[in-house]
Amino acid sequence: MKKVLVLYYSQSGQLKDVLASITAPLEESAAIKCDWRALEPLEPYPYPWPFYTFLNIFPEAVDLDGCPLQELEPAADYDLIILGYTVWFLSPSIPVAGFLQSPQARNLFSGKPVITVIACRDMWLLAQEKVKALLKDLGARLLDNVVLTDQGKSISTFVTTPRWLLTGNKEAFWGFPRAGIAAEEVAAASRFGRRLEGALKDDLEKGDGSLLAGLGAVNVEGKLIASERIAHRSFKIWSKLIKKAGPSGSPARKPVITIYCIFLLMMIVTVVPLNILIRRCLYPFRKRTIDQAVAAYELPSGR
Ligand SMILES: Cc1cc2nc3c(=O)[nH]c(=O)nc-3n(C[C@H](O)[C@H](O)[C@H](O)COP(=O)(O)O)c2cc1C
Repeated sequence: MKKVLVLYYSQSGQLKDVLASITAPLEESAAIKCDWRALEPLEPYPYPWPFYTFLNIFPEAVDLDGCPLQELEPAADYDLIILGYTVWFLSPSIPVAGFLQSPQARNLFSGKPVITVIACRDMWLLAQEKVKALLKDLGARLLDNVVLTDQGKSISTFVTTPRWLLTGNKEAFWGFPRAGIAAEEVAAASRFGRRLEGALKDDLEKGDGSLLAGLGAVNVEGKLIASERIAHRSFKIWSKLIKKAGPSGSPARKPVITIYCIFLLMMIVTVVPLNILIRRCLYPFRKRTIDQAVAAYELPSGR
């Protein structure tokens, strides 16, 4: 009997649905047992998010500060760990970042094969680089990464995802698509579970190769790489400024957060379109470098 741990933190349940779809074929197998564990912060984060609470956690998310969590049930010895996480400000969500730096994670992950599953808007590259480093530090072996992103173009989800997170409303409106990951994509994620079931039967998780190659587990959008890197640099500077204003939740943070929002809006209407235009012009000359970066970010699963 193979034992699989499904470890995750999901607020609306979207990531949990993705994990349920992936693991459905494993749950049906008599030769595999899945243990589900949800990470639970001692002080739960709200959903939907009040505006200032949403931005108040920004510096802690960027700096991977983590938060106190309920102790998980004592860990068994798992054959495979599926780690589901969402992205908060280009970083793994605070509960996941916290757990991956805990002593319990070291016991659980050391030497174990891991598959990361991300369900987010569409900016996950740097979050996954941070998770890769944390997993390496724990001595875990990352075999695959599966990523599902919100439906619609980047420009649409820039509206639909925050609207959903701040109001709880996912419905389509004014020509924008419904927020979140398309239901068909969630359902189609069961293909990963079917492959995993066979791989576990054949003991392939004991090796170091990808189990999910060729199934479209990740699809890196080359044009978003530069945006993520630029945004992350600015996030680092602003998180320092916001932290300097006061501790998490303190009213002293509000004016800095407000200035940050105005700055962000100004950037979005001025620098961002200009940047897109310049990069479009430079694309033919930078294609090789961008293609190399895409291939690197798509590891270990590839397309
Ligand atoms: C505080 C916060 C920050 C977020 N930042 C990002 C981000 O940087 N990139 C991204 O693709 N999605 C981002 N998202 C969207 C989440 O990754 C995720 O899609 C959403 O929270 C729903 O996940 P759930 O399963 O927990 O409900 C953010 C969400 C929250 C709550």
